[in-house]
Amino acid sequence: MTEHSGVVRPKAIVIGAGGGLGHAVIAELMSTERYTVHAVSRKPVNALVDRSWECDYEDDSIARIAQAISAEPGSLSRLIICNGVLHGESFRPERSIKHLNRHSMLHVLETNTVVPMLWLAAFTTAIKNADELRIAVFSARVGSLTDNGLGGWCSYRASKAALNMSLKCAAIEYARLNKNTKLIAFHPGTTDTAMSKPFQKGVPEGKLFEPSFVAHRLITLLDAIASDGELTYIDWDGKTIPW
Ligand SMILES: NC(=O)c1ccc[n+]([C@@H]2O[C@H](COP(=O)([O-])OP(=O)(O)OC[C@H]3O[C@@H](n4cnc5c(N)ncnc54)[C@H](OP(=O)(O)O)[C@@H]3O)[C@@H](O)[C@H]2O)c1
Repeated sequence: MTEHSGVVRPKAIVIGAGGGLGHAVIAELMSTERYTVHAVSRKPVNALVDRSWECDYEDDSIARIAQAISAEPGSLSRLIICNGVLHGESFRPERSIKHLNRHSMLHVLETNTVVPMLWLAAFTTAIKNADELRIAVFSARVGSLTDNGLGGWCSYRASKAALNMSLKCAAIEYARLNKNTKLIAFHPGTTDTAMSKPFQKGVPEGKLFEPSFVAHRLITLLDAIASDGELTYIDWDGKTIPW
């Protein structure tokens, strides 16, 4: 609901809302009753949400939907971008660089790096005009160069490392554009969604999280974190991840 006792609620936007974590983030935001929650996905979102937008993530649709959401009442307060792909019908994460395939690698880079950044670009004016904005983009610990002791998963790792660098550029601009904005690159931990399904066997007991647990952690972290003009690379536990 946009209006509650005559008060316009701030907006929370979830991009990539159709995934396991996207769904859980919507549920968590709705449960706070603090926001008008907008969900963007390739398909109609099967969740209780205030506004649902279908998007093919092409340039025109991103621009049109960002403009339409920005024109809705309420200032932008939470922007959470969940898009990411690790495997698909015709590809899996590479065990070795000899398995690299141009088409798959470009698909992973486009989904994990380019699409999230295009959304941030499309919301530039809304970000500039926001009162107290918290932005979270789902990254992954495997995007850390420091943390990479094993190799493998080259495309996915590269896409998240490139995402982190792109977010760093955005954070520098936001520090000038709107000092009340905070941007985080978020690692959810291994979470029980379609993405992690083929890789859950080796996950230690207690280390495979429910999406609802992670969503609660994320929204709590966003409520607590201060705007300092920096990009923070942080996990579900609030711990900083080395670049
Ligand atoms: N699950 C984990 O263990 C884990 C661990 C580390 C990081 N992450 C990150 O967390 C985020 C959410 O993942 P999840 O676990 O919720 O996975 P998921 O259930 O597979 O959700 C996939 C997400 O990626 C989007 N997506 C898929 N294909 C796309 C395409 N071709 N173009 C644009 N968007 C596409 C979906 O958006 P639509 O709503 O439009 O379908 C959805 O938001 C991802 O960025 C992932 O890398 C997950």
